[in-house]
Amino acid sequence: MSVRLTVLGTGYLGATHAACMAELGHDVLGVDVDADKIAKLTAGQAPFYEPGLDEVLARNIAAGRLRFTTSYAEAAAWGEAHFLCVGTPQRRGENAADLRYVDSVIDNLAPHVANSAVVFGKSTVPVGTAATLSGRARAAVPAGGTLEVAWNPEFLREGYAVQDTLRPDRLVLGTDTSRSSRAEELAREIYADILDAGTPFIVTDLATAEMVKTAANSFLATKISFINAMAEICEASGADITVLADAIGYDERIGRRFLNAGLGFGGGCLPKDIRAFMARAGELGASQALTFLREVDNVNMRARIRMVEMTREISGGSLIGKRVAVLGTAFKPNSDDVRDSPALNVAGQVQLQGASVTAYDPKAMENSRALFPTLDYAASLIEACEGADIILVLTEWPEFTALRPADLDELVRGKVILDGRNCLDPVPWRAAGWVYRGLGRP
Ligand SMILES: NC(=O)c1ccc[n+]([C@@H]2O[C@H](COP(=O)([O-])OP(=O)(O)OC[C@H]3O[C@@H](n4cnc5c(N)ncnc54)[C@H](O)[C@@H]3O)[C@@H](O)[C@H]2O)c1
Repeated sequence: MSVRLTVLGTGYLGATHAACMAELGHDVLGVDVDADKIAKLTAGQAPFYEPGLDEVLARNIAAGRLRFTTSYAEAAAWGEAHFLCVGTPQRRGENAADLRYVDSVIDNLAPHVANSAVVFGKSTVPVGTAATLSGRARAAVPAGGTLEVAWNPEFLREGYAVQDTLRPDRLVLGTDTSRSSRAEELAREIYADILDAGTPFIVTDLATAEMVKTAANSFLATKISFINAMAEICEASGADITVLADAIGYDERIGRRFLNAGLGFGGGCLPKDIRAFMARAGELGASQALTFLREVDNVNMRARIRMVEMTREISGGSLIGKRVAVLGTAFKPNSDDVRDSPALNVAGQVQLQGASVTAYDPKAMENSRALFPTLDYAASLIEACEGADIILVLTEWPEFTALRPADLDELVRGKVILDGRNCLDPVPWRAAGWVYRGLGRP
């Protein structure tokens, strides 16, 4: 059965959620405060790169199931289910999450609510936020309306966002267990197709639902920093991290996924989420439980420094006057997201140490330029590598992992390639006379 629903905040999470809910057959209204974004979406264009999303958008707009607006009055009148998808960035100068956008959604929506509606929070928030928002909503809803707050955290991965939304590995819903709730019934209607496919559905209280997301992200961050810590020891001892990861990964209790040593994690989620989690633990008087996440964060940031050091070392101790080609600026492949991108961070540091840096990314050029205007950007991989003394592979796009020495032999000034993602096979590069180095590899 089709449900009339809204998606509040149409960034990476919300635009995908809106398009995919329409794809499931629902009548969807997407809302954002950014009028440019809404204009793009209305024209059927995702305001960012996400494989497959443009097609889902266009198909559902054409079918009349998906519209966009900047009006909260329209949103409140449209649906009884409202998915809250706004950003929860790190607060300036602090570890804690900035909840002003989440608060403003409730403040904008609640005064218009005349029916019995449910907000499904999907943003990643500190545990306890939903309960606070629930009180905020109750205080602002006019007589005759009700606005329940439930939490339905999102686990999509950029680059796979459409498939992750349509075929998630689980759905989690937290409801206010102290009151009567419509959220589960409504969620079962909205996600009927996904649930019919056998997707596990965990219904729990608000605090647990909020924590599932931060716990999952903390675990993933820890796994990456664990292997990067091992990479540091490999470097010190002459061992090979890629072989080590394969060997321990065969143990099913460990698993090989998310065990690639390299430049570490970045993006708009993991770094700020583990920091917000630490800050929240402090507020709850339980900071000791998460002190290990500080180390996870330290190991992660150290990977970027190690990459810069390796670049300087290979240049004989100084980067001044060196031409460095940077391949990849997005925080990971199949995305144009450069928020807290390790690649862009390394490119910037190498430039600050005196190198002339030319960067290329298949999709993230525009975002990179906006965030880091002082780097030189090339229109292609080939242009970036022309005359380079050193090539840094910093995001493992297929275009880069498919590179062969013969593609670059004639272009470069120095045959030096540093692999920040351990995504190249050193054997052919070394056989072709290149200096190859990877993080944690001999
Ligand atoms: N990006 C991901 O892969 C991902 C995955 C899971 C969870 N999350 C979480 O989802 C949330 C959103 O992340 P994102 O990456 O989509 O962020 P984003 O910055 O891409 O999108 C946020 C959007 O909210 C809009 N906005 C701000 N205030 C608003 C308001 N009052 N009303 C309506 N719109 C408003 C902004 O204009 C922007 O378009 C975060 O909490 C994030 O941690 C993100």
